[in-house]
Amino acid sequence: MEKFRQEIARKLAPLLNMSSEAARALMEVPPNPAWGDIAIPCFSFAKTLRKAPQAIALDLAKAADFGGLASSVEATGGYLNLTLEKAAVTRHIMQGILQDGASFGFTNKGAGKTVVIDFSSPNIAKPFGIGHLRTTVIGHSLSRIYSELGYRVVRVNHLGDWGTQFGKLIVAYKLLAKDDELISDPIGTLFRIYVEFHRRAESSPELLEEARVWFRRLEEGDEEARSLWQRFVEVSLKEYQRVYDLLGVEFDYWLGESYYEPLLASTVAAVEAQDLTTVSDGAVIVDLADYGMPPCLLRKTDGATLYATRDIAAALYRDKKHHPELMLYVVGQEQTLHFKQVKQVLTLMRTPAGEKLVHVPFGLFKFPEGKMSTRQGNVIFLEDVLARAVDLALVVIHAKNPELENKRDIAQHVGVGAVVFGDLKHGRIKDVLFDWDEMLNFDGETGPYVQYTHARACSILRKAAVAPALSDEAALTDEYALPLIKLLGEFPQIIARSASEYEPSVVARYVLDVAALFNRYYHNVRILGGEKDASATRLAVVLATQRILARGLYLLGVTAVDKM
Ligand code: ARG
Repeated sequence: MEKFRQEIARKLAPLLNMSSEAARALMEVPPNPAWGDIAIPCFSFAKTLRKAPQAIALDLAKAADFGGLASSVEATGGYLNLTLEKAAVTRHIMQGILQDGASFGFTNKGAGKTVVIDFSSPNIAKPFGIGHLRTTVIGHSLSRIYSELGYRVVRVNHLGDWGTQFGKLIVAYKLLAKDDELISDPIGTLFRIYVEFHRRAESSPELLEEARVWFRRLEEGDEEARSLWQRFVEVSLKEYQRVYDLLGVEFDYWLGESYYEPLLASTVAAVEAQDLTTVSDGAVIVDLADYGMPPCLLRKTDGATLYATRDIAAALYRDKKHHPELMLYVVGQEQTLHFKQVKQVLTLMRTPAGEKLVHVPFGLFKFPEGKMSTRQGNVIFLEDVLARAVDLALVVIHAKNPELENKRDIAQHVGVGAVVFGDLKHGRIKDVLFDWDEMLNFDGETGPYVQYTHARACSILRKAAVAPALSDEAALTDEYALPLIKLLGEFPQIIARSASEYEPSVVARYVLDVAALFNRYYHNVRILGGEKDASATRLAVVLATQRILARGLYLLGVTAVDKM
């Protein structure tokens, strides 16, 4: 479709006295498909041309020659409405999808460019809770979307493996844990003692002082502190890997906050050298009052550095190492102020990293029980949620398709897909209320619904006696095929838009729309059997839909199963 819009824009440009890009930008999609495929509002020309918009639209309709591209051109209410020639459009879209195989969504927009995506980034010694689901699946999906556009994507897991909490953990460990517990149930143990530490610290505040001392020792490289910390990191990573395997998530770099420790002195010095710091009560800060923000704390009175210091160092490091065009941080919206401060400090340092840093925030994942916090100990483990989703999917599959082979494997993809899709179909910034029934409903707006539709397309293709071919024009332009094919043709624009808005939900909503139109097609059109050319052409429509659904699901990080 885009090719046609651009072609039309090229023909209109000289008449409108503007570039074809500007003419393209003017185009709207008519609110009612019956009015056509493209609407060009003429209101903005009224002043310079001293004519009524409707008169301008009429002039354009008369003057323009769109060759065989448009089947109808009409002036209505100040708009020039165009209907594209449906045989040409559908053939073009179908040929593109069938020839290009997996790469039809690809544009070269990102060629030669790099984007660094910081996502997931759980905190060592804490369970991989539901709280880190959103960053993980949004970041994973964005990394696939940007790759699809031709970008080189650098996926970074910025593990929370540094900070004063490790002092607390060391004290708690020495006080409360036994070594064999750390082997049998590592994170459970670390989590339990961390919670217990906070409980005890309420009545024995000296524990907090002890923790501070231990963190200092860790920062100074004390051997005992280091080796305990190392163990906490190792056991945590092992557990996280299980969750990543379930979700199919991978990273190019696992660089925790500790990695930047050796760079912090020079980072703080670089900020100081630009005269940006002040010392307040012995702490080093960057005053951001001029920007309506509280100061950014770089070094505490006791010399310890902070989360922000490490993020400034990490941003400078990433910029230097990868030369990205963009650095995305997929982190909950509760950290908005933090990233604004970090970006502001980088901008004041006049490094390009400031401009490149983009915080991609998102709302909370809410369980009916309310918000979860690690300190109170009522965290919901992501692994448990995924396991439960898989069990529930298995029950549905048993009921729906008792003959199916490999039910467990399929249930795994469906259950996990339900959770991932249930997250990604919502605009990022909204809070998501977790609802098992809604997520797993095979007929709702869900991952399983799209997977099921994809499997249905696969099953038709398996049963086909003729090969897909574009042999019957009428079968591409009937009332069921036409809207479906037009929608398939929007896939490249959908990918581009989801990237520029950092919104996987754009792709999720799109695959839902494709699935709905395909199911309407399936219920109304005789695909198998019937006249040979028509059947071959309809199978081509099924094949094109199957490919787009598979690719769309892939971009979301959901597996497209071919049977279920
Ligand atoms: N570990 C942090 C948390 O769980 C997220 C880190 C995000 N990335 C960053 N560069 N700050 O809240």
